[in-house]
Formats: sequence, structure tokens, C-alpha cells
Amino acid sequence: MRVDIVSIFPEYFAPLDLSLIGKARANGTLQLGVHDLRSWTHDVHRTVDDTPYGGGPGMVMRPEPWGAALDALAPAESAAPRLLVPSPAGVPFTQALAYELAAEPHLLFACGRYEGIDQRVLDHAATRMPVTEVSLGDYVLFGGEVAVLVILEAVVRLLPGVLGNAGSLTEESHAHGLLEAPMYTKPATWRGLDVPEVLRSGDHGRIARWRRDAALERTGRRRPDMLAALDPRELDKRDVAA
Ligand code: ADE
Repeated sequence: MRVDIVSIFPEYFAPLDLSLIGKARANGTLQLGVHDLRSWTHDVHRTVDDTPYGGGPGMVMRPEPWGAALDALAPAESAAPRLLVPSPAGVPFTQALAYELAAEPHLLFACGRYEGIDQRVLDHAATRMPVTEVSLGDYVLFGGEVAVLVILEAVVRLLPGVLGNAGSLTEESHAHGLLEAPMYTKPATWRGLDVPEVLRSGDHGRIARWRRDAALERTGRRRPDMLAALDPRELDKRDVAA
């Protein structure tokens, strides 16, 4: 997968050299380009923002540097990337969207700052490529950079070969519309607290049932919205009894 990121703070992306994302870059699974938006400015002050039309507080990112950046990174003669613009006004980022993005050959992230990017940049880009504004949640960050780090981490771990144990993907929270059951490791007793007996029983049927019940119970308590959204066909008879 190819990923390009445009930002006025390219230094934010230094952590992408680390850990499993760094390894995915080193082995070619992920080809990453981080670009400074100001390299597409032409004035001495390298200006990227201006006051909003219609008034109001804050500044808006001017369209010209963004237009030039997107022209350079998504040239008309090549296959169009998918443009992602982090914004608190975007569609919610979910595990389902992470899977969708992991299947794309080329993602292009545009990191806005201040009150956002002039809307015409996105409207013009949408004539040439799919554009998705994405929100991490119902809160406001300074800009899109941290959101890109989060989205990329969720996407890159789904790429083939990035996780040593692909089973981790099928067992984890959100894999089946439920939160994951609690997990334990050795020692069996720690500070007077025991690991649930069933997990030490070696009885794989009972363990699977316990984990399923714990996941249902935890999801119902913490995320009743997820439980309500669960397709009833995903439930078995014993889930209903629980
Ligand atoms: N930029 C500012 N706030 C954001 C949020 N909640 N999600 C994604 N991008 C953002």
C-alpha cells in the first residue's frame, strides 16, 4: 500500500519509523511519503491560511497550496488515490472503515489545521478522486495529524503479513460487533487475585462459552449501542439465555 500525508507539521510523523509500522515500511508492505504543505507556497512567509469569509474566529487554510499539493501527489495521468481528510465534521472512523481502507492501493491524507481547509479544495478533489472526511470521535483536536497516526495504525495492522499472528484480528474487540472479554496471563494468582478457573481448565468448549458470555456482558454494560446494533443472527441460543 502507498500512503502520502500532507501537513504543515511533518515532524508529527516521526513515530511512523517505530514498531510494526516501521517494520512494514522497511519490508515494503507500506510505502510512505510525508510532505510539507509549505513546499507548495510561493510567498516569503510561506502562508497557508487566511481569515474566513463571512467572519468568525480563527483562520482557514487557503486553497492554492492544497490544490498544488493534490495535483502533485494525485496527478491526472495516474490512478487516483483515496483522499482522506480528518475532521470533527467527518463520518465516524470505525473498524469497518479501517478494513475498507486496508483494501485500497493508495491513500492520501490531507491534514487540516485551524478552522479547516477551504471547502473548494475538497469539492474540486472530489471531481477526480473519492474523498472522505473522517472523524475520530466527538471531540476537537488541534488538527488532523494525530488522527492520521491513529487511522494509519488501525489500517496498517490489517495489511497481510503485518501481524505475526493473524488470529489476533479475529479475536479482538470490534471483530464481531462485541468488545473483547478480559484477558489473563501467568501467574495464576497475583496479589490475592485468581485467574478465572475456567480459563485454566483446558476445556476449550467451556473457555469459548465463558469468553463469549464475558464479551456480551461487558458490551452490554459499556456499549449498549453496540449490543442493540448486533444482528440477531449473530446470537446463538445460549447467548439469549445469558
Ligand atoms: N481534527 C480535529 N478534530 C478531529 C477529530 N475529532 N477527528 C479527526 N480529525 C480531527
